[in-house]
Amino acid sequence: MQSKARMIIDKDFRVGDVDKRVFGAFIEHLGRAVYGGIYEPGHATADEDGFRHDVLDLVKKLNVPIVRYPGGNFVSGYNWQDGVGPKQERPRRLDLAWRTVESNQVGVNEFADWANKAGAEVMMAVNLGTKGIDSARSLVEYCNHPGGTYWSDLRRQHGWSQPHGIKTWCLGNEMDGPWQIGHKTADEYGRIALESAKTMKWVDPGIELVACGSSNRHMATFPQWEATVLEHTYEFADYISLHTYYGNRDNDTANFLARSLDMDTYIQSVVSICDYVKAKKRSRKTMMLSFDEWNVWFHSNEADRQVEPWQEAPPLLEDVYTHEDALLVGSMLLSLLRRADRVKVACLAQLVNVIAPIMTSTGGGAWAQTIFYPFMHTSLYGHGTVLHTIVDCPVYDSKDFEEVPYLDSLAVYNEEWGEVTVFAVNRDLNNVLQLDADMRSFDGLRVAEHLVLEHSDLKAVNTEQQPNNVTPHSGGDADLTDGRLTAGLPKASWNVIRLTQ
Ligand code: AHR
Repeated sequence: MQSKARMIIDKDFRVGDVDKRVFGAFIEHLGRAVYGGIYEPGHATADEDGFRHDVLDLVKKLNVPIVRYPGGNFVSGYNWQDGVGPKQERPRRLDLAWRTVESNQVGVNEFADWANKAGAEVMMAVNLGTKGIDSARSLVEYCNHPGGTYWSDLRRQHGWSQPHGIKTWCLGNEMDGPWQIGHKTADEYGRIALESAKTMKWVDPGIELVACGSSNRHMATFPQWEATVLEHTYEFADYISLHTYYGNRDNDTANFLARSLDMDTYIQSVVSICDYVKAKKRSRKTMMLSFDEWNVWFHSNEADRQVEPWQEAPPLLEDVYTHEDALLVGSMLLSLLRRADRVKVACLAQLVNVIAPIMTSTGGGAWAQTIFYPFMHTSLYGHGTVLHTIVDCPVYDSKDFEEVPYLDSLAVYNEEWGEVTVFAVNRDLNNVLQLDADMRSFDGLRVAEHLVLEHSDLKAVNTEQQPNNVTPHSGGDADLTDGRLTAGLPKASWNVIRLTQ
């Protein structure tokens, strides 16, 4: 069967320009993200610094511009000074966030080197759980000050003569969560975040700061947390963070694929809170959003409960992603892009082995999970100006959502490249969706490519043995004639239609 979706894509209906940092990711000292993931001295592909080049190649393919580090929950008990200086003198510590042992063989300098090799910036988080202003401002000085002071000279003595020039910093992590080491009330956090922010910017006025919003929109303290934190930090913060993870625990795929609607509502609510505080403060500054943790996360929950504590880099949060997970990840990317005017930074959580698009086996290979593909497509082609599109398509009701459009779509216009890219998810699990889009406002475009990610089995996965089980093909049937774009979007599929001049 076939159903129809009509769309108008007009080059003058603009939402905002995409900030490339919206295609960021995240590496935490957690499980095998660092050790056995990005860093494995002795691995066949490891370089002189111990970094795996098979992993670096996949990270480069993903085109990730910024990577958040070192946590996550880990950062709230972390002393960054443990991870600098001669490796053999670095302490082994208990990590209370994940109940593991941290060897500190990778720290801020090594990570900055790794990010450089990956072609990405570092987004550094400071510890506002067990630490505070002094540790945060010393870290900014250590990383960003050229030299001639205690901390900058210490960096030079450790072998990094040039400053790392880290621009984007997180003021702690999920401080509203009772699971967080050093959990705080909104007022307690707001005060320490403000004082840390002020001091960090005095060390380096060029940095940008992200204040912690809620851990998700279902926290009991949401949205008052955001309002209170912003009342304290509005002057010195540049962004407020959002985090969310979704799962398909009850195997209700129609409902699962609608979860990006929850993300849309969450973003809209946080924008409203930011603007409320802006009005209250009579401020001319507009607060932007950093969606610095988002993904599907549920497959590994049960296995993680069985893991023995106090191991070094045990497998944790190793979700193996299905085809349907890739569809929701695609929709979540569209939710981020849809608010390109306000969401300026976002980090897929995470990047390697831990709820990640890239998996490795220790001593073995590296491969791309299903969710790798929608992320790669948007990070390669989702640059330019997001356009408001008018869509008319059939809808469905699911357990938690009403009037869910079968078509989830978005268009990005890149005037400089002379390109328009239409991204589309067909949420219909049984039928092809026939897209019919009016694009008469554009001249001289032609279909360059119609990429499709589809699979007959919604639960299909990629593994080390079968790494190409779920991969995109370029056999879509999109056609553009006389300003009318038509395409058959297969059931349960992710589509990328690239139109060029
Ligand atoms: O990404 C995994 C964890 O999820 C992070 O450490 C934490 O910030 C969030 O709860």
